[in-house]
Amino acid sequence: MSKLSVSDRGARVAPFIAMDMMREANQLEATGNDIVHMEVGQPSSAPPRQVVEAAKAALDVDRIGYTNALGIPALRERISRHYADAYGLSVPAERVVITTGSSAGFILAFLAAFEPGAQIALPMPGYPAYKNILAALDLGLVPLETSARTRWAPDVDDIRRLAAQPDNAISGLLVASPANPTGTMLSPAVLKEIAQTCEAAGVRFLSDEIYHGLVYGMEQACALSYSDEAVIINSFSKYFCMTGWRIGWMIVPEPLLRPVECLAQSLYISAPTLSQHAALAAFDAVEELEGHKQMYARNREMLLNELPGVGFSEFTPVDGAFYVYADVARFTNDSFEFAGKMLREIGVATTPGADFDAELGHRFIRMSFAGSEDQMHEAVKRLRTWLP
Ligand SMILES: Cc1ncc(COP(=O)(O)O)c(C=O)c1O
Repeated sequence: MSKLSVSDRGARVAPFIAMDMMREANQLEATGNDIVHMEVGQPSSAPPRQVVEAAKAALDVDRIGYTNALGIPALRERISRHYADAYGLSVPAERVVITTGSSAGFILAFLAAFEPGAQIALPMPGYPAYKNILAALDLGLVPLETSARTRWAPDVDDIRRLAAQPDNAISGLLVASPANPTGTMLSPAVLKEIAQTCEAAGVRFLSDEIYHGLVYGMEQACALSYSDEAVIINSFSKYFCMTGWRIGWMIVPEPLLRPVECLAQSLYISAPTLSQHAALAAFDAVEELEGHKQMYARNREMLLNELPGVGFSEFTPVDGAFYVYADVARFTNDSFEFAGKMLREIGVATTPGADFDAELGHRFIRMSFAGSEDQMHEAVKRLRTWLP
């Protein structure tokens, strides 16, 4: 047997099933199959015109070298201004950290805030990479189960109880609102309660606000309005349609700033420079981006109307983001197998719930409605003929 080392860490980190599904769907597509992509949470729309123009202009005048680890000053200042415009918050540009997508933001925040072995609470179902990154960094996971009965929202009393336990039973709590895979949005009052409960108990609150801007009729608040100790994680991937540009940001409390900078210097050096220049223009593309949001809203409406007719259920409220997390228990007790069959037999790619909730996800699938309206109608048409 080979003595060359392979760490257990790789085996501890579960596959990101949505990414595996995307690979399989792309393979089928490359061999001539007509696939409806609902498996990955990415806008089908191109990045805004101004963003592409800004990238082209940067290529002409900039040599695209490294930047400061925390990002180019102009973008940090532009994001600071965004907080004043969108939330009425005064956020010094010095506290804005530009990251290689929010994915890098989680790694930086977890490493800067928590000791190895610290326990972090996460609502379940939740974005799969959270638990996978925790596992990779030797951090523990405390699941907070949610259900359709509680609007898929974490229970504030559960959080209060956990936060009050002695000996730092949990060191951190990470919540996304709107959430992936359910779309659940916390009201400002609940967000306030959670943020302030955490601050009072000495639990670091991380607020994933990546789906801000994609909210259908609910009020949107930033956790910084309620706790200056919260770490805010955000990205240009979703509302701004820039998934592949790998660019996001964090707002970091002052004591974490230098540790985050040192970690970023050595882990990534800096976020992609071309993307930083391009992202500067993203906040000025609101008209184009609001048009995309209106398309998601129409897709949402159509799916909420049509999916019960094909036998999928329990997917309310879908307050935001672009996902339906549907109960498919009427058809299967193994949504992994169900989603695989659906992809191979009718070319509709979705993500099985096990990605988001190892415990109860076997009866759910997640469908992303960030695709075109034609694609969404096509998916419903194929499902209608396929399902018994
Ligand atoms: C809730 C949530 N957070 C973070 C991410 C990661 O996004 P990115 O690294 O592209 O910013 C995603 C991607 O789907 C997500 O759904």
